[in-house]
Amino acid sequence: MCGIVGYTGTRQAYPIILKGLKRLEYRGYDSSGVALLNDGKLNVYKKKGKVAELEEAMIGKNTDAHIGIGHTRWATHGEPSDRNAHPHLSANGKLSMIHNGIIENYALIKQDLVNKGYHFTSDTDTEVLLNFIEDIQKNNDDCKLEEALRIALKRVSGAYCILLIEQDNPDTIIAARKGSPLVIGIGKGEHFLASDASPIIEYTKEVVYVNDYELAIVKPDELILKNLGNEKITPYITKLDMELAAIEKGGYDHFMIKEIFEQPNTIFDCLRGRLYAKEGNIKMSGVDDNIDQLLNAQRIMIVACGTSWHAGLVAEYIIEELCRIPVEVEYASEFRYRNPIVNKGDVIIAISQSGETADTLVALEKAKENGAFIFGVVNAVGSSIARISNAGAYTHAGPEIGVASTKAFTGQLAVLMMVALDIAKHKGTITTERYLKLLLELEQVPEKVNSILKNAADIKSIAEKYKDASDFLFLGRGYNFPIALEGALKLKEISYIHAEGYPAAEMKHGPIALVDENLPVVFIATHDPYHEKIMSNMQEIKARKGKVISIITEGDLFSKSLSNDYFEIPMADELIAPLLTVVPLQLLSYYVGTAKGIDVDKPRNLAKSVTVE
Ligand code: M6R
Repeated sequence: MCGIVGYTGTRQAYPIILKGLKRLEYRGYDSSGVALLNDGKLNVYKKKGKVAELEEAMIGKNTDAHIGIGHTRWATHGEPSDRNAHPHLSANGKLSMIHNGIIENYALIKQDLVNKGYHFTSDTDTEVLLNFIEDIQKNNDDCKLEEALRIALKRVSGAYCILLIEQDNPDTIIAARKGSPLVIGIGKGEHFLASDASPIIEYTKEVVYVNDYELAIVKPDELILKNLGNEKITPYITKLDMELAAIEKGGYDHFMIKEIFEQPNTIFDCLRGRLYAKEGNIKMSGVDDNIDQLLNAQRIMIVACGTSWHAGLVAEYIIEELCRIPVEVEYASEFRYRNPIVNKGDVIIAISQSGETADTLVALEKAKENGAFIFGVVNAVGSSIARISNAGAYTHAGPEIGVASTKAFTGQLAVLMMVALDIAKHKGTITTERYLKLLLELEQVPEKVNSILKNAADIKSIAEKYKDASDFLFLGRGYNFPIALEGALKLKEISYIHAEGYPAAEMKHGPIALVDENLPVVFIATHDPYHEKIMSNMQEIKARKGKVISIITEGDLFSKSLSNDYFEIPMADELIAPLLTVVPLQLLSYYVGTAKGIDVDKPRNLAKSVTVE
């Protein structure tokens, strides 16, 4: 978590840092701060709350500086407060640092420093690392900062992306990364540093993605990259393929609703150049170039977190159905610690919007060490998970800024569907007729999503009717069971209403005890082979006076008659349906959240990219 920004060059640093922090607020927003080097002195300003509160507090302050660093925080060590906000100042006031990550062995280092007489002004692991660096400098004949940092980093465990500035070195930012992302934008006589490219995009499109265990010495006219062994590395410059409009709200009230409404385009972009429905073909180089590896897999493991894990559950059903390969879906956080059996040649599909989720990343590193083949389904281009993967397919959903994942999820489903179809065709486990039908249906998804979005006002009315409920139940079967889980997760994170997702038939094994006249139960009840079964489940809820809200296939009169409220979606094959059924549930959570006055793009306690354990 946490967003970091740095600037060194000829412009005023503060406005660039402030704007960058606003763009990175999705990564954490419980406090923020900046350190500016002006008048030969390091000045640090920090404030609990969102970046807007820092901006307010900065009015009237001297911000005339050409170098600075800024941070927006998602608390790990120490409560959200002014004192725990970054940047921190070292004990002698000569160094300032921001940090994204966790220093796991900070307690031991802190004790050592306390014994030496250091006092700490915050509860953070970051201040410990900073004073550790200061102490190393002191004990090594006032060695150069980069040298002290290198020594320190060899002794710490955990994850970090850090930026450091030094009073006596007024044009240089020293940066390092392990496990938390860092991008450096290359301008003319200036450099920009940030957790992702969004604060950089309007100044330059040339960037360098810093790798783990690399250290950067950044001056206005110079970028030196080194490894921790002090050897120089040639920076690899990438051209950003992103426009500024993609990271702005474009007239919508929130990023979340903008991103929901972008889905016809993002799904189209995801299919483009891969799906050739009329020719009856899918071209995915990540699959085609590695087909032997994929066909020889005895099983596929899918590793992901949160919404991406739900996409994995849908993929499990689809891959087993179409490819007849056994699939297991794992929470990355469990997988990484539970000593799973991973053998050479096993295929792991890693699903991640951000490509930076710490649990997923570490799980993959371990699996890779054991010889597994990693296939990444990632949205953020150039991210850590994309780079650790042996092969993969980007979801091409564009930057997703709202904390709730929406367009990235449908992108994941579209990619995974194509991967399954491509493997099934190569493996011969699908008939030509079925293959062609699914290709045609997949091609129609953007249009069908568009038709759902045209009726968003109907979902808004339903949301207003049920916004005061204290609990919700979401039920689905088959391919729509993971969508029930996703609907519940969306509602929880955006509206703070307790919600549970269940396979509809499981309801009678426990959750049915919750049903009374106050409980809204959302059924995902589109036409599929389990339709009659789910109708029975609806009857069971109705018999207990629960309020039935249903997502149904157009023209399904019987489902309508059983529902208190319903929303119709276009007819679709059961394998394709999740791409459609999830959209009204995204809208439901958005409209409930906004009706309750919640800042849906930045709901409490959450961060977009979970780069800590
Ligand atoms: O970036 P990732 O897809 O790896 O993130 C995984 C989860 O943190 C993420 O899906 C989270 O659950 C979202 N807030 C859900 O909307």
